[in-house]
Amino acid sequence: MAVEAPAHRAETVIVTGATGGIGTALTRRLAADGHRLHLMGRSIQVLRELSLGTTATCSSVDLRDERAIREFCRGWTEPLYALIHNAGVVHVSAVDGPDALDEWNDTLSVNLLAPYLLTNGLQDRIVNGGRIVTISSQLGRVGRAGYGAYCASKFALIGATKCWAHELGARQITVNAILPSWVSTAQALGDAQRQSEQQGIYLDEHLAAVVSQLELRRMTRPEEVAALVGFLLSDDAAGISGQDWLLTAAPG
Ligand SMILES: NC(=O)c1ccc[n+]([C@@H]2O[C@H](COP(=O)([O-])OP(=O)(O)OC[C@H]3O[C@@H](n4cnc5c(N)ncnc54)[C@H](OP(=O)(O)O)[C@@H]3O)[C@@H](O)[C@H]2O)c1
Repeated sequence: MAVEAPAHRAETVIVTGATGGIGTALTRRLAADGHRLHLMGRSIQVLRELSLGTTATCSSVDLRDERAIREFCRGWTEPLYALIHNAGVVHVSAVDGPDALDEWNDTLSVNLLAPYLLTNGLQDRIVNGGRIVTISSQLGRVGRAGYGAYCASKFALIGATKCWAHELGARQITVNAILPSWVSTAQALGDAQRQSEQQGIYLDEHLAAVVSQLELRRMTRPEEVAALVGFLLSDDAAGISGQDWLLTAAPG
């Protein structure tokens, strides 16, 4: 008996933040699952290196730039299977921090407005039965001192995800959020470094304290986030929408 090819492998999956820790794992996993990829980031050189030897295409777009995002969307003409909103930034400063307003603008632009602008500009291109995945954070559920802008962006991203699930559901497009806690990437290590400096302790000591509070006593691997995205893009996940998937919990 002939084995039927999985649905939608001919259509493209866009991954933002493809150059980062989770993004790199995502591109590997989704390519291995047979998806055709379009990688987004800021450095075209890094993107080209990432896509070398694969069928992936790439675009350099600064996600703080509304005009550039709108131009990218206008130029996108082919059918799209999925949109993975993975790019994100973290700035740590208290409510009265000297650069807090700039940091709020930057964070909300990349983490929240860019997913909105891309979803808005590309939703007509997403095929019926397509997928959207947003990468929020555990800090989309709990607060942490100094993370006002980041938490605001990630809480709001979950809200938007649930609304888009309702809006696009009639076309059988699923929309889900993933909420990682600590994933072993440069972003997490930068975070841990800042926290250890604030507490006046060594990084190793701080990391040991962090992981001791996680259920699995270790950070999540980027490949494990990618595996959940892979599942949400699979035919088996066609009936799951509007959900927020927490990947191992840690205190705020
Ligand atoms: N690591 C964790 O522990 C953790 C936990 C919870 C949630 N998350 C979320 O997971 C996602 C990926 O995190 P990560 O750990 O892989 O972070 P990362 O290694 O720092 O990568 C961040 C990605 O976002 C892109 N990006 C940042 N600013 C951008 C901008 N202005 N325009 C376009 N792209 C931009 C970066 O591209 P460039 O190469 O151009 O800088 C990079 O590809 C983020 O949304 C993050 O908030 C991470």
